[in-house]
Amino acid sequence: MCSRRWEWCSAVELLLLPLLVAGISDSPEKITCISGSNVTLKTSKKMLDNYIHGTWFYTTNQKIVEWDSNKPNYFNTKFKQRVELDPQSAALHIYNVEKSDSSTYLLRVSNESGSEYDMSIILEVFDPVPNFVIKTETKEVSGVCYMNLSCEIPDQSVDYIWHTDSGPSPKELHRSVLQVTIPPQNKSNSYTCQISNPVSSQNDTVYFLPPCNLDRSSGVTHIVNLLVLLIPTIPVLLLT
Ligand SMILES: *[C@@H]1O[C@H](CO)[C@@H](O)[C@H](O)[C@H]1NC(C)=O
Ligand SMILES: *[C@@H]1O[C@H](CO)[C@@H](O)[C@H](O)[C@H]1NC(C)=O
Ligand SMILES: *[C@@H]1O[C@H](CO)[C@@H](O)[C@H](O)[C@H]1NC(C)=O
Ligand SMILES: *[C@@H]1O[C@H](CO)[C@@H](O)[C@H](O)[C@H]1NC(C)=O
Ligand SMILES: *[C@@H]1O[C@H](CO)[C@@H](O)[C@H](O)[C@H]1NC(C)=O
Repeated sequence: MCSRRWEWCSAVELLLLPLLVAGISDSPEKITCISGSNVTLKTSKKMLDNYIHGTWFYTTNQKIVEWDSNKPNYFNTKFKQRVELDPQSAALHIYNVEKSDSSTYLLRVSNESGSEYDMSIILEVFDPVPNFVIKTETKEVSGVCYMNLSCEIPDQSVDYIWHTDSGPSPKELHRSVLQVTIPPQNKSNSYTCQISNPVSSQNDTVYFLPPCNLDRSSGVTHIVNLLVLLIPTIPVLLLT
């Protein structure tokens, strides 16, 4: 059973394969997932043939599961109810991942003569970006309109992009507050704040109305709303 999210995780693993083939295999594989999805951590190598003992670590010193000749022993961690090991492939299934599961996971296997082999995988779990609204402050001084638009959310791991009528903001303006000065001759503009992380994205838009106001809906939306209000009343008018 594959959910979209699971497939998405697998897709990222697949995307990484060419990198591994291209010889960057020394850098650990990275898996990026949205919280709530199921993830499989697995080795990309046929390294397990002669190995009889294996351990998955959450951090370098916290063991999740250990196994000898097919018998897994799950340690008492926050993962206990959410992980399942496939002893044949050493693949570790983690169900319902949380943001705090983000870590560098380590798989250590050893053979009969005690030779060890380590492999690490970076797991990054992101919460979906929440809905938000742009907060606005405006001030008019001698016909010039000064506006502060802010869309800050508590999450540190997001990127902010402002879109105006002239396109997306340049990289150095990727921050949560946009300060705008509009000279009197300018007509109208829309300002969209887009907040994204690697797994999701949300946006909100405000519209400039002269001389110095901001509105959630554009003039066009106002007209559409008016029509929606009027249409049901038309048959009533015809009947009377
Ligand atoms: C994760 O796996 C469990 C058990 O197989 C399944 O019930 C659940 O729907 C899966 N969740 C997602 C988001 O794929
Ligand atoms: C264990 O692995 C080492 C290194 O790969 C190898 O030299 C050794 O022969 C292996 N021992 C067994 C019993 O497979
Ligand atoms: C916008 O923010 C700046 C810096 O915090 C402040 O000096 C300015 O008065 C603000 N402008 C408006 C229109 O509120
Ligand atoms: C004012 O209008 C001009 C032309 O329409 C536009 O290029 C410019 O970005 C606007 N200035 C602001 C601050 O919106
Ligand atoms: C804003 O979000 C809507 C739907 O949520 C999407 O259709 C639109 O493309 C987004 N706009 C930008 C600029 O990201």
